Amino acid sequence: MTSLIQEAQQVLMHTYNPFPINLVSGDGCYVKDSNGREYLDFLSGIAVNSLGYNHPGFNEAVDNQLHRIIHYSNLFLNEQQIDLAKKLINNSSFDKAFFCNSGTEAVESALKLAKKFGKAKKNGAWKIIAMNQSFHGRTSGSLSLTGQIKYQHSFLPLLPGVVFARFNDFDDLKQKMDPDTCAVILEPIQGEGGIHPADKKYLEKVRDLCTVEKAALIFDEVQCGMGRTGTLFAHEHFGVYPDIIALAKGLGGGLPIGAILSTKEFDLFEPGDHAATFGGNPLVCSGARAVLHELIDNNLLETIRESGSYMKERLEQISQNYSFVKEIRGLGFMLGMEVNIPAADIVSSCREEGLLLVTAGPSVVRFVPPLITGKNEIDKAIHILNSVLEKLQKKACL
Ligand SMILES: Cc1ncc(COP(=O)(O)O)c(C=O)c1O
Repeated sequence: MTSLIQEAQQVLMHTYNPFPINLVSGDGCYVKDSNGREYLDFLSGIAVNSLGYNHPGFNEAVDNQLHRIIHYSNLFLNEQQIDLAKKLINNSSFDKAFFCNSGTEAVESALKLAKKFGKAKKNGAWKIIAMNQSFHGRTSGSLSLTGQIKYQHSFLPLLPGVVFARFNDFDDLKQKMDPDTCAVILEPIQGEGGIHPADKKYLEKVRDLCTVEKAALIFDEVQCGMGRTGTLFAHEHFGVYPDIIALAKGLGGGLPIGAILSTKEFDLFEPGDHAATFGGNPLVCSGARAVLHELIDNNLLETIRESGSYMKERLEQISQNYSFVKEIRGLGFMLGMEVNIPAADIVSSCREEGLLLVTAGPSVVRFVPPLITGKNEIDKAIHILNSVLEKLQKKACL
């Protein structure tokens, strides 16, 4: 392992500090490292591997496509892409789709669409209101919308015209809205910012304000979308419907695909405006189609709602015993445990005990398991977590 770490340091740019674990295979909700050690995975590639690992339906769909054609170009018709778009549109409030490769690209696409809307339909309006503590990605446009200076500071100045408002504070947003505002972007459940769900009333008011002020309402559901919260899109929980939505992560079940969906009114791109060479190629679309098939046709959404509630209850139960646990938040399989000790200590102790987790900021432990996770895996994860919390509590008392 040491030599692999050294090799990584020699040849890879230092954008990550990887854990010294070389994962080589996976099955269901479990992954195995190169020493044969098994881990229960409650991080799923950071909310990506929706169907876990080695899922038969997913494998079959992708394998079939792999042996036919992987990629050609959007210069040609693409049946798999059309089929995927139809499935997304038929199960949402949107009318059109555009496919790209990642979350940050989906946000870039939404940003460009909003700017085009401002130019074409709102007297050249070009400003965007984004939220404090948001996370929208690492490319320059989406980084400009990310309301956390720690990600931005080495790259300033970023895009002009981005104004930040306090999340869940309608008055603040209203005050910042002006005739030059072409869009408001927010995550219905902030992910990297610490698993903070929006208030329903707040979202309703934001929707009304955007309609009255003729600004595009963009929801970034890159993390909270695609069934993660037990509905296909997180905004369904709130009954609030955006004009544009950004998707990625779980959409491809591990294959790199992102998308934006928009209503008819925002269907404004023309040839030459926007494109992606790999965007929605047949292979990634076949994977995304298999994910949607499980979520919608095989009722996985219902199971996620049940299992997610069970998981939240269990987390709430055990957290009663630990004074350093402040709150359990989230919906479905997007849950966070806020603590007033370093969340990274809990995550690394759980990893040593065979449970993979990830933080969401310094004080939140995040639970984003594969969407196929059942009661047995939840009980096992809770058991490991509980024993780790117990040890940390004892240590803190010493
Ligand atoms: C809400 C949200 N938007 C955008 C992104 C960026 O996605 P990607 O890493 O695929 O570019 C992320 C990634 O964590 C995210 O959580």
